[in-house]
Amino acid sequence: MTPGEVVISEEEIQRRVAELGQAITTDYAGRHPLLIGVLKGAFVFMADLARAIALPLEIDFMAVSSYGAATKTSGIVRIVKDLDADLTDRHVLIVEDIVDSGLTLSYLRKGLLARGPASLEVCSLLMKKGQQRVNLEIPYVGFEIPPDFVAGYGLDVAERYRNLRGIHLVDGVEES
Ligand code: IMP
Repeated sequence: MTPGEVVISEEEIQRRVAELGQAITTDYAGRHPLLIGVLKGAFVFMADLARAIALPLEIDFMAVSSYGAATKTSGIVRIVKDLDADLTDRHVLIVEDIVDSGLTLSYLRKGLLARGPASLEVCSLLMKKGQQRVNLEIPYVGFEIPPDFVAGYGLDVAERYRNLRGIHLVDGVEES
């Protein structure tokens, strides 16, 4: 497995993250959003997005495991690290790296909604076109991409390539 061609460059990502930050700043004006990053994939995006939002905000992280070593989701999501923050009456924005089948996000949304937030929205850097198995409304999406396996900018293949600055195609990963 090697990182292949760049599908989204560092510059394109930075431009789009700035736009997302502006949109969120406008939409959440007068509120103090709580950004929840989904580890590990969202850690780089979270760092850039949080700094692109010109509002008082808080961040928290949770870690879920949906894949094991395989590259396709099982639909079974395990919470590996839960939040520190209390979500009651908070304006919560889930920050995700990528939505593929949407099963991870759908599970997370349900769980977090049960904790009584004032609002709950999602910002995902990437979304794989035509792959969603559940109906999801995602107000903030960075890029729609074809259903190929990608890595970089926080996303991994078997824990590698998270430190690449752009998003790369990964050769040799079979998507079933
Ligand atoms: P879903 O539940 O099928 O939407 O899968 C979402 C999760 O699978 C993401 O948060 C990623 O951790 C992982 N994932 C899906 N596609 C990719 C990819 O192309 N590269 C790296 N991770 C991926």
